[in-house]
Amino acid sequence: MTTLPTVELTVYAYECDAYGHLNHATAVALLERARWESLARGPGIDLFHRNGVMPVVRKATVEYRAAVFPGDVLRVELTVAERGTTSWTVRHVVTRASDTMPVFDGEVVLVCLDRTGRPTPLPDELATLLGPRTSGAHGTRRVVVAGGSAELAVDVRGDGVAVLFVHGFPFDRTLWRHQLAALTRYRRIAPDLRGVGESRGTSDEYSMARYAEDLAGLLDALDVRRAVVCGLSMGGYIAFEMVRRYPERVRALMLCDTRASADAEDARRRRDELAALAGRDGPGAVGERLIPNLLGAATRAERPEVQEQLLAMSRRYSVPGMAGALRAMRDRPDSTRDLPKITVPTLVMVGAEDPTSPPAVMKTMADAIPGARYVVVPAAGHASPLEQPLASSRAMADFLDGLPASEATG
Ligand code: MLT
Repeated sequence: MTTLPTVELTVYAYECDAYGHLNHATAVALLERARWESLARGPGIDLFHRNGVMPVVRKATVEYRAAVFPGDVLRVELTVAERGTTSWTVRHVVTRASDTMPVFDGEVVLVCLDRTGRPTPLPDELATLLGPRTSGAHGTRRVVVAGGSAELAVDVRGDGVAVLFVHGFPFDRTLWRHQLAALTRYRRIAPDLRGVGESRGTSDEYSMARYAEDLAGLLDALDVRRAVVCGLSMGGYIAFEMVRRYPERVRALMLCDTRASADAEDARRRRDELAALAGRDGPGAVGERLIPNLLGAATRAERPEVQEQLLAMSRRYSVPGMAGALRAMRDRPDSTRDLPKITVPTLVMVGAEDPTSPPAVMKTMADAIPGARYVVVPAAGHASPLEQPLASSRAMADFLDGLPASEATG
């Protein structure tokens, strides 16, 4: 993704409402100001004029995260999330400069019009500035791995230390949408695993080893030698496999809502029943069976959209992808004896109400990993990064910011 110059803007009192907050209209206007400022720092604000075209906004969405007040200085990171023939999408990640608190993100689709008001192909100078055409939606890349047996869809954002986000089951990469927006000082890499979401798996091979191999191939393709591996639940099982197989690729670990033990006999039987359900009634039926029982009470009561988002993720599995994930989890090795051998900095994070990897289990796991940091996220269940995005992202940012220099830069 092409990055445009980052800008800092001060919020003025006239941009705020009677309660002193930046209001919606001015948030959108502020994003526009940021784009012009960014142009002023790059090719100049006469870029469109000198090429005989004008940009118009076709769609703008803003997602708010925290209140903004007069006098706040906001840092706006701009990336070209998508580039077509006549249009492009700019993603804005807005943080408060004083403490890097994420305050809102915006996504704006612009179209290039000629002097008669018709859409027209981007002039060369603009096309060069915005970078190569993207194929997938929102700048998603596609990377072929494992000798062509899978093609992974992956979101890659920002620069800095690489953080590889590995989703759990039955979720996809959008589980990490808030962390991708918030952790702006890091290179965030979030793939869909094979057979999930927009990724394809062309073979029937599913195992923790295969997933780990896919991810090592993904890091190769992105030219990343070492990454902080952040895995939630099944993503944690894969993170353990990466530590076993590719220790040199793992800079640090963030283990969320996961467990080190293998499946007991009854759990193995339930995996087979769920695989049969996916084959009979579709992957969404498995989501409907599992997801309502995974969330915290506050999420269920106050944020029904979180459950909807998770159900939508489960529907994006292919049947082989879902059955394969269930088999891979059923047959995964026990990682308990590996815990004391982990030598990289590790964050162990759990939702206070996680029913499947409860705090007591996670605490025991953290105690077995030398020097691990243990954090409980209040009012969250099994999907803590989505249920409590601010608290989860803050815990991750604190951990990442505190990595020793050799971990942070090596
Ligand atoms: C997950 O979130 O990945 C699952 O709960 C893992 C599991 O079923 O063991």
